[in-house]
Amino acid sequence: MRLFLDTANIDEIRQAARMGVLAGVTTNPTLMARESGITYRERVIEICETVNGPVSAECTSRYVEGLVQEARGIASWYPNVVVKIPIDANGLEATSLLSKEGIKINMTLVFSANQSLLAALAGATYVSPFIGRLDDAGHDGMEVVRQSVQIFDNYHLPAQVLAASIRSTTHVIQAAMAGSHVATLPFAVLQAMLKHPLTDSGIERFLADSRKYAAV
Ligand code: E4P
Repeated sequence: MRLFLDTANIDEIRQAARMGVLAGVTTNPTLMARESGITYRERVIEICETVNGPVSAECTSRYVEGLVQEARGIASWYPNVVVKIPIDANGLEATSLLSKEGIKINMTLVFSANQSLLAALAGATYVSPFIGRLDDAGHDGMEVVRQSVQIFDNYHLPAQVLAASIRSTTHVIQAAMAGSHVATLPFAVLQAMLKHPLTDSGIERFLADSRKYAAV
């Protein structure tokens, strides 16, 4: 499973990229609203220059013509930009048109396996079920990931499941075990994946013992 970072914060992206584990980035208007002094386009280009992988930037138009125009503009910002479009009838129509032009779409705000199937059939490259928000609403978000992976496999659909709205390290493991192609994580979850108290105490113990002898 590839790991994307779910953020518009360039410092977080740089740190994750240096670790060598970052395969892409997803942004959205809420994440971008936390940043200041920079346009969305400028930030997305900055991210693309930092990460060698797909970088999702989201459309805010609500109608087909507007979506198509906005998506073409966003896709022209940088070669590895993927355009995020929320799933609804207009979003599917725009995705169908844009995917035929070779523009990669990340179909977002997916909350059911039926929506995943529709997104994949319309030509989306990535389909993003929102796990955490489903869990918050009392559902089993991961079930949508499991079902989507199985459906895409059954019919050899080329779309990739991108597990989104990840809230915990447990979500990451569950998404990987479900066969999700990608998971997009908040930086705090990526950091939490790395930590284990036995690693910390083990390092301290080895350091303490290393002071008891000469290295060469
Ligand atoms: C996905 O691409 C979205 O940006 C994101 O995962 C939404 O997550 P949230 O529910 O934490 O806002």
